[in-house]
Amino acid sequence: MADIRLEGVGHSYDGGRTWAVKPMTWTWHSSRAYALLGPSGCGKTTLLNIISGLITPSVGQIFFDDREVTGVPTAGRNIAQVFQFPVLYEEMSVYDNLAFPLRNRKVPKQEIDRRVRQVSELLGLDHLLRRRSRRLDAGRQQIVSLGRGLVRAEVAAVLLDEPLTVVDPALKWTLRSKLKEIHRDTGHTLIYVTHDQTEALTFADEVVVLNDGAIVQAGEPAELFLSPAHEFVGHFIGSPGMNVVPAEVVGGVVRVGQSDVGAVTNELPPGPVRIGVRPEFVRITEARTSPGVAAKVTGIDRMGAYDLVHTLVGEHPVIAKTEAGTSYQPDTVEFLHFPADRTFLFRDEVRCGALAPLNGRGQA
Ligand SMILES: Nc1ncnc2c1ncn2[C@@H]1O[C@H](COP(=O)(O)OP(=O)(O)OP(=O)(O)O)[C@@H](O)[C@H]1O
Ligand SMILES: [Mg+2]
Repeated sequence: MADIRLEGVGHSYDGGRTWAVKPMTWTWHSSRAYALLGPSGCGKTTLLNIISGLITPSVGQIFFDDREVTGVPTAGRNIAQVFQFPVLYEEMSVYDNLAFPLRNRKVPKQEIDRRVRQVSELLGLDHLLRRRSRRLDAGRQQIVSLGRGLVRAEVAAVLLDEPLTVVDPALKWTLRSKLKEIHRDTGHTLIYVTHDQTEALTFADEVVVLNDGAIVQAGEPAELFLSPAHEFVGHFIGSPGMNVVPAEVVGGVVRVGQSDVGAVTNELPPGPVRIGVRPEFVRITEARTSPGVAAKVTGIDRMGAYDLVHTLVGEHPVIAKTEAGTSYQPDTVEFLHFPADRTFLFRDEVRCGALAPLNGRGQA
C-alpha cells in the first residue's frame, strides 16, 4: 500500500489541443476508499488508466510513495484494475479465474486457496467455484471480475471503473456493502469510478468530484452536500441540485433585485455574484420579511415524503423542498429566506464567500 501522488499530471489525446485530464497535483492516500465521481466524458477512465499505467500522461510525474513510476508499465505497478465489463477467461472455472492473478505471482498454493475462498465467500460465489465462467450470466461474470481485482492482498491500489454497471440493481447494494467490508478487512487503497452520486456517497470515505478534466472538490459526502466549493458540485450532488440566483454585492450587502438577502462573510469586492442555496434550506415565509425576496409560485410537485415548491425570483427558478402536503398555490407570491449558514456566494463558479446575517445593515 502506498500514497499515490500525481505531480502536474495531465493528458491530451490530441497533442495538447484539448485536455481529457487537465494538469493536476493530487495525492490518493494509502488505505482510503475513494469514489471518483463525475459526468460522462469528464476524464474518469483516463485518470484511472494513468494511475494503472495503461496510459502514459502527456505531462507530469506519478509517484507511489517516493518511487517514481511515470514510465513504469502496468505490470510493474502492482495495481489491480476492474473494468466496466467482465474480463475473464471464459473456459476456466470461477476458482481458476480467481486464482489466476495469484498463480501469476507465484503465491504459495495454500495461500491461494485461502484467498480464493475468502473472496468468493464475501462475494457470494462460493457455490459456483467449479462452474465454468462462460456459463454464468453477465452480472455474475462481473462479480468474478470484481473478485479477481480483490483477491491479491498486496497491491498498491485497487481501481474500479464503474464495476457494477452490468450487475442487477438489487445486487448492487449488496455488493457495494461487501466492497466496503472487504476494504475494512484488507485496507486496500480503493478508487471507485462512478457517475452515480448515490453510489459514490454510500461507498466512499472521500468523494472526489471531477468535472471537465479537473478535480473541483473532494471531501466526505456530507461536506459536498452542505458546503459545495464549486457550483458544479452544488448541481451534480443533491436531487434536485442547488439553486443558483444572480445577485449583487453592494457595500457588504447581498442584493437580489431590490431586496437585501444578507451580508457577506468576508471582504468580498463589490460586483455580481451568484447565490447558491440547496432546496432543502430555502425557507418560505408567508409575510414579507427582511432579509428575504419575493417569489412567484409556479407549481408544486408532491413527492409523497415531501413537496417541491417551484418558484420564480424575477426570471430565475428557485425550488424549495418542504414538508409534504403544503397549501402553497400556483400564481401566488411568497417570500423566500436564504439561511446564512447554508447559503454560499460564487464567482466564476467557484465559491467566494457565504451569506451572513444582515445585523441591521441594508434596507429594512
Ligand atoms: N482513446 C481516446 N482517444 C481520443 N479521445 C479520447 C479517448 N478516450 C477518451 N477520450 C476523450 O477524453 C475525454 C475523457 O474521456 P474518459 O473516457 O476519460 O471519460 P469518462 O469520465 O471515463 O467518461 P464515461 O463516464 O463516459 O466513461 C472525453 O472527451 C473522451 O471523448
Ligand atoms: Mg469511463
